[in-house]
Amino acid sequence: MKKNKLYIILAIVVTCTIGFGIYFLLNGKETKKENEKIVNENEINELKQEKNIAKFNFETKTVKLNSGYVMPINGLGTYSLTGNTCYNAVSSALKSGVRLIDTAYMYGNEEEIGKAIRDSKIPRSEIFVITKIYPSQFDKPKEAIELALKKLDIGYIDMLLLHHPGENDINAYKEMEKYVESGKIRSLGLSNWYVEELEEFLPQVNIIPALVQNEIHPYYQENDVIPFIQNLGIVVQGWYPFGGRGHTSELLNNETIVKISNNHNVSSAQVILRWNLQKGVVVIPGSSNPDHIKENTDIYGFELTDEEMKQINALDRNEKHDWY
Ligand SMILES: NC(=O)c1ccc[n+]([C@@H]2O[C@H](COP(=O)([O-])OP(=O)(O)OC[C@H]3O[C@@H](n4cnc5c(N)ncnc54)[C@H](OP(=O)(O)O)[C@@H]3O)[C@@H](O)[C@H]2O)c1
Repeated sequence: MKKNKLYIILAIVVTCTIGFGIYFLLNGKETKKENEKIVNENEINELKQEKNIAKFNFETKTVKLNSGYVMPINGLGTYSLTGNTCYNAVSSALKSGVRLIDTAYMYGNEEEIGKAIRDSKIPRSEIFVITKIYPSQFDKPKEAIELALKKLDIGYIDMLLLHHPGENDINAYKEMEKYVESGKIRSLGLSNWYVEELEEFLPQVNIIPALVQNEIHPYYQENDVIPFIQNLGIVVQGWYPFGGRGHTSELLNNETIVKISNNHNVSSAQVILRWNLQKGVVVIPGSSNPDHIKENTDIYGFELTDEEMKQINALDRNEKHDWY
């Protein structure tokens, strides 16, 4: 009888110990998770508090990045331009005074761009080249970076972006950070990262991105995302400023934009680019037409009024023209 009582007491003690053990283990994990979350949020808040919004210099047509480097605020986008068309477009842009070229592994034109830059004889230090590595390359980032350096063949990359969020993106970015140390890449950035993605990404990396490149045009304005990014001291750059191929005519013939362009005796394209600049968004319109390329650089001789800015802001339709 005494022995049975002893077994029962022992069983109760063992059950309680295991129960409490599991409770504290789970609770501890929760607290740790909570703490991690607070640390991450604090880091982001600290960045926000700095209110380090990069100001555009309209005299030099540049902006100083959080990496310390200076980047032009208007450039040439090269999506869908390949071979001779790409070479000629870049050469023409450089002749027109454009000093910022945007490319990507995915565009398949880094070699042509590198050649046009080398052939231009313009000092390398005066040209700013952005390229991107694609999610399919994120598992082997070192190979991806070496490939971009080899194809461009211009000594170093001014800015390397992750083209989209994807598996192993943190891993790829950490490899990019090593290249910043070695000087082969100067600044880092992201493309197609929005508020939630940034909140998750930023606390996991050492170098705060200098640039975020996202879809921005009058029909898709990202009015909540832009200030969020800028308040972190990160410069925003817009892709598809004219809505992208297949959408440009609708946007360039928009009644409001045409009316504003008549007020200033400029083109609709120039109004859209200027609207971006006045919102603190860097522009990289794509074009293979030398006249358009020239026109797209001529955006510093007029200023949109607050009222005109408001009228264009009112055109927002939250209408994304591509999936990413
Ligand atoms: N990060 C990303 O995921 C991502 C995605 C898409 C694009 N991008 C980048 O953003 C850049 C811009 O986008 P995009 O080139 O696809 O589209 P876009 O700049 O919105 O539009 C390009 C189109 O506009 C026309 N155009 C250019 N200047 C013009 C002007 N002054 N007047 C009338 N039409 C004009 C071009 O035709 P002409 O050739 O005849 O001038 C071309 O058909 C790309 O080149 C690429 O570098 C990035």
